[in-house]
Amino acid sequence: LQVTFIEHDGTTHLVPAPPERTLMQIAVDNGVPGILGDCGGSCSCATCHAYIDTRWADKLPTLSETETFMLEGVPEPRENSRLCCQIKMQAALDGIVVELPEVQV
Ligand code: FES
Repeated sequence: LQVTFIEHDGTTHLVPAPPERTLMQIAVDNGVPGILGDCGGSCSCATCHAYIDTRWADKLPTLSETETFMLEGVPEPRENSRLCCQIKMQAALDGIVVELPEVQV
């Protein structure tokens, strides 16, 4: 399985994505800049905010109340904003494209 992360400046990172790792862990494992994951994946920092390509929208896990709440505080929320620590890699998400915001706060 693979994930493509696209930085705000257009730099693309195609990285291996082991099943059950979250998109946040995968970004950190591969040194992708732009995903910080400060809270370690407990949905309490929002420094793993990213925009998930809408082609995968119907395959993503449903937003929890906590994730929805945390996303209200990110700098540039969009319809397809998600927290990468809340999305676990699985076969249905193979090839997923994840666009990174300009900043994480
Ligand atoms: Fe903190 Fe995702 S790593 S909310």
